[in-house]
Amino acid sequence: MTSSASLLNISLIILSVVTCLASTQMTVSTVVSDAELGQWFTVQCQVSGSLGLVVIIQISKDIGSNKTTLVNHIINGNITTDKPPTRISYNSDTYTVNISNANCQDEIVGAERVKYVCDLTYVTTATATATSSKEVTIKARPQEPSILSTSPASLLSDKFVVEGTEVKVTCSANVGRETKGSIVWRIYRNNTPEFVSDARVKSVERTGSPSCTRVMDSTLTVASVSRSDQDLAIACFVVNSDFNAVAPELCSDPAAALCQLTETIRVHYPVKEAFITGDNSATEEGSVTLTCYGSAVPDATYVWFKSGDENRTLSESNILTLTNLSIAEDAGEYNCTASNNVSGTIYSASQSFKLTIVPTTPAPTTTPEATDGPTEPVVSGDTSGDDQTIIIAVCVSVVILIILAIIIGIICWKRRKPRKEIEEPSEKPYNNRPNLSFQNPQPDLVADEKKFNNPSLNNSFDQKNEDGLMYADLTYDNRPRSRKPMALGDAMSDYSDVQMPEV
Ligand SMILES: *[C@@H]1O[C@H](CO)[C@@H](O)[C@H](O)[C@H]1NC(C)=O
Ligand SMILES: *[C@@H]1O[C@H](CO)[C@@H](O)[C@H](O)[C@H]1NC(C)=O
Ligand SMILES: *[C@@H]1O[C@H](CO)[C@@H](O)[C@H](O)[C@H]1NC(C)=O
Ligand SMILES: *[C@@H]1O[C@H](CO)[C@@H](O)[C@H](O)[C@H]1NC(C)=O
Ligand SMILES: *[C@@H]1O[C@H](CO)[C@@H](O)[C@H](O)[C@H]1NC(C)=O
Ligand SMILES: *[C@@H]1O[C@H](CO)[C@@H](O)[C@H](O)[C@H]1NC(C)=O
Ligand SMILES: *[C@@H]1O[C@H](CO)[C@@H](O)[C@H](O)[C@H]1NC(C)=O
Repeated sequence: MTSSASLLNISLIILSVVTCLASTQMTVSTVVSDAELGQWFTVQCQVSGSLGLVVIIQISKDIGSNKTTLVNHIINGNITTDKPPTRISYNSDTYTVNISNANCQDEIVGAERVKYVCDLTYVTTATATATSSKEVTIKARPQEPSILSTSPASLLSDKFVVEGTEVKVTCSANVGRETKGSIVWRIYRNNTPEFVSDARVKSVERTGSPSCTRVMDSTLTVASVSRSDQDLAIACFVVNSDFNAVAPELCSDPAAALCQLTETIRVHYPVKEAFITGDNSATEEGSVTLTCYGSAVPDATYVWFKSGDENRTLSESNILTLTNLSIAEDAGEYNCTASNNVSGTIYSASQSFKLTIVPTTPAPTTTPEATDGPTEPVVSGDTSGDDQTIIIAVCVSVVILIILAIIIGIICWKRRKPRKEIEEPSEKPYNNRPNLSFQNPQPDLVADEKKFNNPSLNNSFDQKNEDGLMYADLTYDNRPRSRKPMALGDAMSDYSDVQMPEV
């Protein structure tokens, strides 16, 4: 197979020699592929320029001027390779050496960089040579990290830490070639990541295996964990500029994302204060619900009691519900105590709450408003409190006026008829009844007073107020001097009809 390719080459060369001038120069360049530890890489000798007759391609490994031949390819002749040839294969068509299972020594030995050299010997008018060399850079894939240690040591098994504690997590990983790899950190609080790259992170590097790689030990310190760090989780990520330069947000697939995530860590803190919420006052026979809350992790437990009755626990939840309230039994001060257990120590906080119980009273009745405006016939029959006082006041004034008039009358009469006969004035016509209409006959009102007192009655009895719910039609008989309503039709609805006289 190689011989047929060589034959083709030779025929091409011969053709070239025939068609071209044989006095041109040839060059060779060395091309080295990307290399990764443990993978194969290639070294290729690319011949260019006007064709002369290539005689020999030699590919060597040069370590500090100590040259080891990998392939000595004599055109139309033998191909020899170095010893042992197990990692080397050669493509004679492309003059390419394929080196498998790359190791650190393929790049550097001691302090010496390894050079891959292509030496070309060709014939034009005379035998000439060309040479070229390249170094290889071998990448090292970083490894998934592991959590080496934590502080407190039981952090990951306890899954909690007491507030104020210093928390440390140390991750370790082979991060790849030196200067290429690193460990970075993220802190999650309620799944919100914080990228940490400041003084909280301390890292040291040491030689890894293989020796051209580095192991990094990195420690993240959270100086004093607080309740604002609640449900804390910490992740370390390995990054490497040759492979995964940026760490993902989350460590959901440790093998793929090269990360390690701690358990979610609860931050425990003692209860400091308790608060009671609820209505301060409730009605007798009613009910009231009081709620107690004390910020604490682990969650607080609650106990309720009443002041003066401390031995009787009313509730062991954060809610106290009191029903069928009685003033004697239930009014007073209630206490809630919230407690929690932080690392074996019980912490407590109390709050008191004064509950007032309002006695139940019959619902207050709504008194109708006094009627204003000239509704004299109606006012006379009114019995509501306000109107009664007005009536009494008017009556008293009237009586006083009458007495005054009588006194004045007597004085005048005595002056006109001095010392004739002393007659006692008759008090008969004067009526002391608490009644406005002592001169006129009182209207015979049949209607419900409340209806007549309604403000919607206004000034006109004929006017049917469409806006008001109640109105009245008063009809009086047409005989002069009479103000007596003739008929009053009280419908089922809230209004009355009263026939008015045409005055
Ligand atoms: C060249 O390699 C040989 C063995 O492979 C070693 O003994 C010698 O010291 C090397 N020479 C230099 C200059 O490194
Ligand atoms: C090729 O190698 C064989 C031995 O393996 C040798 O006899 C022969 O002379 C060599 N040919 C050339 C052109 O070097
Ligand atoms: C190099 O060799 C490996 C096997 O060792 C092979 O899988 C790979 O395809 C070869 N690469 C080239 C470019 O020939
Ligand atoms: C509560 O109980 C203790 C004994 O358990 C008793 O000495 C105390 O008097 C009680 N207090 C009240 C207010 O009943
Ligand atoms: C409410 O309490 C009173 C006494 O305080 C009692 O007579 C009544 O039966 C109670 N009602 C209910 C529904 O428990
Ligand atoms: C407090 O909690 C610890 C476990 O965290 C438990 O061992 C201990 O008994 C608890 N103490 C009390 C008084 O409940
Ligand atoms: C009730 O709570 C208050 C705090 O608000 C506390 O000072 C008081 O001692 C408590 N009373 C009892 C009987 O525990």
